[in-house]
Amino acid sequence: MEDKVRVLLTEEEVDKRIEEIGAQISRDYAGKSVHLICVLKGGVFFTCELAKRITVPVSLDFMSVSSYGAGTKSSGVVKIVKDLDEPLDGKDVLIVEDIIDSGRTLSYLIELLHKRNPNSVRLCTLLDKPERRVTDVKVDYVGFNIPDEFVVGYGLDYDQKYRNLPYIGVVEV
Ligand code: IMP
Ligand code: MG
Repeated sequence: MEDKVRVLLTEEEVDKRIEEIGAQISRDYAGKSVHLICVLKGGVFFTCELAKRITVPVSLDFMSVSSYGAGTKSSGVVKIVKDLDEPLDGKDVLIVEDIIDSGRTLSYLIELLHKRNPNSVRLCTLLDKPERRVTDVKVDYVGFNIPDEFVVGYGLDYDQKYRNLPYIGVVEV
């Protein structure tokens, strides 16, 4: 059965914002390289679009952590499903996430990556739900602050569906 998806952010709005963030990152990292860490799977669409708009040298790595089960509720448990391929020594790391909700996943991840001796660690997220924060995390780049609604599209899923939507929407139940 097909669910109804209400558009929250159009493809044009998302693209325009990613272009702005890419320009900001290019300015902030001028004269350096940036090592993007894509948090799978949700961060993959945003990472690709963002990477294309960054003008300083970019390298990429991928990591998969899980804090959510099949539904829309946090389990509070964070586990590494796939670790990075490369070490972080001396790198300027930028974690690229789809959404920050409770903040549990990212606070865990940031702490873990800091132990690998990078030069710096920053965080970039396409979406943020600040109202939902349980664990404090410093977010350096935010695409959009959104209300407390469960969203899909642009990498975000509901039971592994809708990641491929080119916009951000809310599943109407
Ligand atoms: P946190 O640890 O609660 O911040 O959870 C972050 C992760 O939960 C994100 O990377 C998403 O995978 C998932 N998540 C949180 N909110 C949503 C949502 O509205 N739609 C889809 N996935 C979400
Ligand atoms: Mg995620």
